Amino acid sequence: MKAFFINSVDISKKICESILEDGDIAVDCTMGNGNDTAFLCSLIGNSGKVYAFDVQQNAVLNTRDKLLKLGFLERTYLILDGHENIDKYVKEKVKLIIFNLGYLPKGNHNITTKKETTIESVKKCLNILKRNGIILLVVYPGHNNGKEEKESLEIFTSQLDQKEYTVVKFRFLNQINNPPELICIEKIF
Ligand SMILES: C[S@@+](CC[C@H](N)C(=O)[O-])C[C@H]1O[C@@H](n2cnc3c(N)ncnc32)[C@H](O)[C@@H]1O
Repeated sequence: MKAFFINSVDISKKICESILEDGDIAVDCTMGNGNDTAFLCSLIGNSGKVYAFDVQQNAVLNTRDKLLKLGFLERTYLILDGHENIDKYVKEKVKLIIFNLGYLPKGNHNITTKKETTIESVKKCLNILKRNGIILLVVYPGHNNGKEEKESLEIFTSQLDQKEYTVVKFRFLNQINNPPELICIEKIF
């Protein structure tokens, strides 16, 4: 039998699977190669929608190709812009928003998410979440920029009012080299 707790990305996918249903609206705030976008598309059915953001044109082009091959392109809005501008594009309430932060492993490591714009985006995401909607943030404390981003997110999310949001973190306590962690926010009002 396969292990249940494999890594933070895998846990984030298990959460997506248990939350999303046909017809739901979801957002991938860091499109990259489109793996997460395609996964979300597989969970929201023909009547659902996925908005996906990236600042790299190649990310949008690669994702478009991937979704076309999978027959998912019509379920998506692919947006070449930073997720900090999410309020300009998403004008409806959404069930789930995912961030897989940092940089593309095989891409340009200088094009990475940054704590200031990530926090700006998360603040805007809170406003468009449905009741019981969820934000998932996979953070990468194994490198300096990712560690700073994780710490900023922990400070910001731990100050959210517990009457309005539940914040949970998954951290692998007995693994070496600071593996990725997962911060989850559920809107409860
Ligand atoms: C770890 S990768 C995402 C992996 C992706 N989810 C996948 O399935 O392949 C992080 C991505 O965030 C993008 N990014 C960096 N800053 C961004 C921003 N402000 N808004 C949206 N995307 C951004 C990078 O260009 C990179 O493609």
